[in-house]
Amino acid sequence: MRIGFISDIHGNFTALQAVLSDIKQQKLDLLVCLGDTISLGPQPKEVLNALREWNAVTIMGNHDQAILEPEKAAEFEITEHLIPDLYWGRDHISLEDLNFIKSFKATHSIQFPNGIELLAFHGSPESTTHLIQAITPTDILDHYFAERSASVFIGGHSHIQLHRRLGKKLILNSGSVGNAFEYVFSPGNPPKLLPWAEYTIVEQDNDSLRTDMRRIYFDTKTLIESVKASGLPGTDWWLQQYQNK
Ligand SMILES: [Fe+2]
Repeated sequence: MRIGFISDIHGNFTALQAVLSDIKQQKLDLLVCLGDTISLGPQPKEVLNALREWNAVTIMGNHDQAILEPEKAAEFEITEHLIPDLYWGRDHISLEDLNFIKSFKATHSIQFPNGIELLAFHGSPESTTHLIQAITPTDILDHYFAERSASVFIGGHSHIQLHRRLGKKLILNSGSVGNAFEYVFSPGNPPKLLPWAEYTIVEQDNDSLRTDMRRIYFDTKTLIESVKASGLPGTDWWLQQYQNK
């Protein structure tokens, strides 16, 4: 059984297209999106259409919550200067699209044929805003995961791929399709983006469990052209990315 996990697309349809064309070669049984689908990027509608077309099980991210309730953006830990981009994204999708976002799930559990249970989420199983990193203390991770029946966990939110074992549990982050961060986000420091998309395949086959953390290069020039054509409030930030790469 092979499952693809994509996350944190953030309206970057150019990156998503590159990932989906790789996925077409991968013979997946299921595609799961771990949230943060449309905000910040130039092509929100195209991203939602692709998720529907692929029948992706989609989990709610903090940016998706903020698209639904932009007046509560601070509660969802959205930096203040990004709020105009939230409203721009909301203005460029339909009521049907908003209802689609409302249907996103909090978590999703998958049972592999050998009995292993995987739990998918955005930040942690408890919150869309919990940030799990390679340096997160084990007592915090134990609080999130130790008492749960699943033994494989996968989330997004940090925009950095992660493969970390915690006792008998395995904690994964699929990385970000549309906004792969060079370094982990810290308040006051606008993130710098890497010129590739990240996603992850988890496969259980007889006695093996395999994770394939993939990096897919995409055409950053095409993305920048669509940013320039969009009128997105955050255009300048996008234009500063991918230089000298
Ligand atoms: Fe995100």
